[in-house]
Amino acid sequence: MTSVELSVESAPAAQASPREWWRTAAIYQIYPRSFADANGDGIGDLPGITSRLDALRDLGVDAIWLSPFMTSPQKDAGYDVADYCDVDPLFGTLADFDAMLAAAHERGIRVIVDLVPNHSSDQHAWFQAALAAAPGSPERARYMFRDGQGEDGELPPNNWQSVFGGPAWTRITEADGRPGQWYLHLFDSSQPDFDWANPEVQEEFRRILRFWLDRGVDGFRVDVAHGLVKHDELPDYMPPEDSDSMGGQEPVPYWGQEGVHEIYRDWHRLLEEYPGDRALCAEAWMPTAEETALWVRPDEMHQAFNFPYLMAEWDAEQLHEVIDVSFEAFGGVGAPTTWVLSNHDVIRHASRLALGAEHPQGHGIGPLSKGKPDPVVGLRRARAATTLMLALPGSAYLYQGEELGLPEVIDLPDDARQDPTWFRTKGERYGRDGCRVPIPWEADAPAYGFNATGASWLPQPAEWHGLARDAQDADPASTLNLYRALLRLRREHGVAAAEFSWIEDAPADTVAFRSGPVTVIANLGAEPVALPAGARVLVSSAPLEGDAVPTDTAVWLAND
Ligand code: BGC
Repeated sequence: MTSVELSVESAPAAQASPREWWRTAAIYQIYPRSFADANGDGIGDLPGITSRLDALRDLGVDAIWLSPFMTSPQKDAGYDVADYCDVDPLFGTLADFDAMLAAAHERGIRVIVDLVPNHSSDQHAWFQAALAAAPGSPERARYMFRDGQGEDGELPPNNWQSVFGGPAWTRITEADGRPGQWYLHLFDSSQPDFDWANPEVQEEFRRILRFWLDRGVDGFRVDVAHGLVKHDELPDYMPPEDSDSMGGQEPVPYWGQEGVHEIYRDWHRLLEEYPGDRALCAEAWMPTAEETALWVRPDEMHQAFNFPYLMAEWDAEQLHEVIDVSFEAFGGVGAPTTWVLSNHDVIRHASRLALGAEHPQGHGIGPLSKGKPDPVVGLRRARAATTLMLALPGSAYLYQGEELGLPEVIDLPDDARQDPTWFRTKGERYGRDGCRVPIPWEADAPAYGFNATGASWLPQPAEWHGLARDAQDADPASTLNLYRALLRLRREHGVAAAEFSWIEDAPADTVAFRSGPVTVIANLGAEPVALPAGARVLVSSAPLEGDAVPTDTAVWLAND
């Protein structure tokens, strides 16, 4: 058996100022339609969130981020916004939002809302006005309308593909009934892209930011933050076969264009006009940490999800590499690294880390997928992965249900699926519904306590009975209690703001490091790894084997 000696090699770590809460915060993502449903219609809502905030306080998170709850026809589960300054009746009212915000703040929990600036819904008043107006009008100029190619404009302006599959252009019928111009939609055809070169669009989003800041939100998660500005000439571009739906090889004429950063410099200044300490978090799916770090230069956003970390496989070398590169890239611009393993767009990490086949992001897994995950291995790895992640200096995002060890739901019936990806690829890609199933609260209640009626917009699996929060509450070995312990220790030991250093000469297949007063050893190999003599274990993701860390297990040790 190999063992770990505790000599260290130093590495730079960004220091947190106590005011800048977002540098070290553990932030819990609420997907409102699947969190808690107060009115029993099968779709979660804002009063449901308010009623369950105590559970999040007990879990020990610093903030919540809410996926969109604004007025929307729900073609992409709310990421198709028809009115940015109102609440969709499905989720409640603005008064319900204010009550939820106040209740969260009373509990010391900050609130981040989702902002979707790349595109609106096709039901947005501006898009409806654009359809009614003539080509070349100011109404059309708020979106990306272009004439088609070919003799009668019958071909799209270029060959771009929608992230959800199929062409990224749709041709409209003009008011006089003739086939007309085309509009760009990087996502569903119900999500037309704004033209961010238009000052009117820029001003409208300043107004929207102010609307939510005035209500007291602590920040924004910015959807598709790498996509707002397109290459001037709209050149042809085809993503490589089977590439991740949000990523792509550089350079892509619609991701990461230089001009996009000016928008966030402007928003940074706007947030600074407000008291408190408000933050912007970029959802920018760039291939590397170096590229992602461009969004968090000192005058831009405050956080950017570290998706290269999320995409790393359960492999010590890959993790070592991505952690190293992340500290260098984000630290290099003075920003925290924002760690994340799951969200509403990716296969839950309790399944993803045990997949036996390629799984491009956004494609999902379903009944006919190859390499389905072993749920026992998946959960074991997920617990170890989170134990490792929550010891890394920086901020960390958790996705609702991961604290219960929820796996991806693979066996959803075809007719229950709702992700536009599923429809736009005619079932070739399963999409993201499997990570969006309403979460279980009470094992023996209707819909596992999601609501009182038993209705659920996606069916909940029978196996979730034992994963319900109340079933895990009193079990010291449960995933819920592991998360509670990790979040408590993370706070008590200040690891999120600590100095980071690798343990030198750690055995192959381990990830071993010091984070301030804590040493972490994660064993990803097949053989157990002996603990250093006299080690004091603070928390372990699985029972130890005597004085050894078994396979797929991570431990925190006290450095005393
Ligand atoms: C969101 C997705 C959404 C897409 C389009 C993404 O980045 O996280 O859920 O489908 O943007 O708005």
